[in-house]
Amino acid sequence: MSELWVERHRPRTVGDIKGQTSVVQRLASYATMKDFPHLLFAGPPGTGKTTAAMALTRDVFGKEFRQNLLEMNASDERKLESIRTKVKQFARTAPFGGASFKIIFLDEADALTNDAQGALRRIMEQYAETCRFILSCNYSSKIIEPIQSRCAVFRFRPLAEAEVSDQVHSVAKSEGVALDDDAAEALVRISQGDLRKAITALQVAAALESKITRNLIYETSATAPPESLHQYLMACRQDGFHAARRRLRELLDRYGLAGTDFVNQLHRELYGADFLTEIQKLDLTELMAEIDFRLVEGGGESVQLDALTARLCRLLA
Ligand SMILES: Nc1ncnc2c1ncn2[C@@H]1O[C@H](COP(=O)(O)OP(=O)(O)O)[C@@H](O)[C@H]1O
Ligand SMILES: [Mg+2]
Repeated sequence: MSELWVERHRPRTVGDIKGQTSVVQRLASYATMKDFPHLLFAGPPGTGKTTAAMALTRDVFGKEFRQNLLEMNASDERKLESIRTKVKQFARTAPFGGASFKIIFLDEADALTNDAQGALRRIMEQYAETCRFILSCNYSSKIIEPIQSRCAVFRFRPLAEAEVSDQVHSVAKSEGVALDDDAAEALVRISQGDLRKAITALQVAAALESKITRNLIYETSATAPPESLHQYLMACRQDGFHAARRRLRELLDRYGLAGTDFVNQLHRELYGADFLTEIQKLDLTELMAEIDFRLVEGGGESVQLDALTARLCRLLA
């Protein structure tokens, strides 16, 4: 694999970011003003937080933007001391190209303990004259209030199905791989709004075949297609324990699923299974939660999955 497609197709300018409409609008006006406050980007992985930080920096500073950007990942910087040292060095020299400030992007800021965040807050204050901080995190609630209140907060959402679909089609086209609509739909489904996941899965599949099919996407992304999960539920209902158990084994084997993957994917598919009654869906939801918990707590995989199949056979028969 040469260059990663997620990098090659990362939007360079704020205006090219997909979805995130209100975020993009506000950032675009910062880019026009060439000024902004400290920013906090919150949201799930693969939704454009790092992309937005880089694109905004580029929009404000132009081609030489990297000279005015210090990137750090809080989960790599074990001690706040190393952040402090880097910030200090970076802030010592004047901004490049006549800019009035430099940008410090701290990814995964929610990996810092509350004490470290307290110290970070003081660093932010100390260098506020010359530096703007952009912090990213998955959950803004994990960032201490004094930092939140010093930042403009931006919430990134999982991308909509149509946005993921458009983007994977456009990446496939520019990479010269044939992606049919069923395969794009599979990418949408496995990604759950995470574009990094969708594009990575596309590249993994494209490394194997030049014509991407739905099955190839499922097989290379450790995800069972919806109909095979439905067939398992049907087997529990009609064919009895042994047949259902066999089907489950085949499924785990073919798609390379761990027990918790299977339970979570089955849970996601439950609500679309129109052959189940409402009551059955409720019972099954509780059952999934219980089995998931036991697996996470270290319950043996094969005995837990057999227990799941056994209960499903009773509930659905
Ligand atoms: N909103 C988006 N618009 C276009 N591409 C995106 C978007 N979000 C993610 N991507 C794609 O996924 C990759 C990872 O996105 P990134 O911004 O690093 O996500 P994170 O939110 O985890 O920081 C990018 O390089 C880009 O290819
Ligand atoms: Mg990121």
